[in-house]
This record gives sequence, C-alpha cells and structure tokens, in this order.
Amino acid sequence: SGVLTELVVDNLREIPDFPEPGVLFRDITPLLANGKAFANLIDGLAAHYRGHIDAVAGLESRGFVLAAPLAVHLGLGMITVRKGGKLPGPVLGEDYSLEYGTARMEIRPDTVVAGQRVLVIDDVLATGGTAAASISLLERAGAQVVAVCMLLELAGLGGRERLPGRRIDSVVTFPAS
Ligand code: PRP
Ligand code: MG
Repeated sequence: SGVLTELVVDNLREIPDFPEPGVLFRDITPLLANGKAFANLIDGLAAHYRGHIDAVAGLESRGFVLAAPLAVHLGLGMITVRKGGKLPGPVLGEDYSLEYGTARMEIRPDTVVAGQRVLVIDDVLATGGTAAASISLLERAGAQVVAVCMLLELAGLGGRERLPGRRIDSVVTFPAS
C-alpha cells in the first residue's frame, strides 16, 4: 500500500558505486535500525497477509530478517530457504545461474506441510534467480506458493519475467539503474 511504500522509501539509504562502480546500492539497514519503522512495516505486511497464508518462507540471509518477525506476528511458522551446504540432510536443492557462476538454495522438505499456503519474502527482487529457485523448492516439497513479497524490486533486471504467473507484491519498485 502507499503507506508502506512511503515508510520504506523514507528509511532507505542510497549508496552510489557499491559494490561496484556504477551501481546504486539501496540499503535497508536504516529501516531495520529504526524500531518504529521496522514495527510499522511488519504490522502493515501482517495486516495484508493475515488469513491468506499458512506459513512464511524467508530466503537466506536478508529475507530471514523480514520473515521471522512476520511469522511470529501472524502466529505462523517460518520456513528457512537456505544457501547451499548449510542444512543437514535430507534436503532438496536447486541450482540457479548468476551473472557470473551459479548459486544454490536448499530446504528441508520436512519443514513444509503439504498443501499449505506459503508466502515467500525477501528484501530484493533483482534477476529473480533466488526467488525462482526457492519457489521451485517449496513447491517440490508440496507447498502452495500463493504470493511473493519483496521490499524492493529492481525493475528491468528480469525478475518478474523469471516468475511468470506469480503474484509479486513489491513494496517499492525502482528502475534498475
Ligand atoms: C540478494 C538479495 C536477494 C537476491 C536478489 O541476496 O538479498 O536475496 O540477492 O537477487 P536475484 O533476484 O538476482 O536472485 P544475496 O545473495 O546478495 O545474499 P544475502 O541476502 O545473504 O545478503
Ligand atoms: Mg538475499
């Protein structure tokens, strides 16, 4: 909603030329460090999703910071979608391509209840690789991914195109460059 968009925009810090020259990094640490803003964000997201989801899936690492308080606020469990090699087995894994090289996300399928309605949440949607791999894992484990919530969407990097047919709720959308 407009109120949440304004809240996030007002609490971002823009850092030019990070992590590389020419890239404008949008940092959410001021938002997280502002107790009132952070609480208002989680309250707003909880109001939006209450009654529509059965679990919250957070994408390691920055997605965990959003997923955990949202899950607790709603009285729901949190599913941790982790970077490859961190979880003890049995795990399901999905490799995906990055600009240079590949990455991997994993879940323990026993943390998913078959048929449950899951919200995927992360801080940033860029190329969509992380989210696409995570959604695929959750669905392989039997979840029904009903929405994807992103604090920031960097439009123009192909994220939406990599998640065809998905409901993607981005709190703030920026042009890619
Ligand atoms: C960043 C960000 C998203 C992902 C978005 O995570 O937090 O998870 O990249 O990029 P994509 O849409 O192109 O996949 P990163 O891998 O940098 O790690 P972190 O969350 O552990 O900081
Ligand atoms: Mg991340």
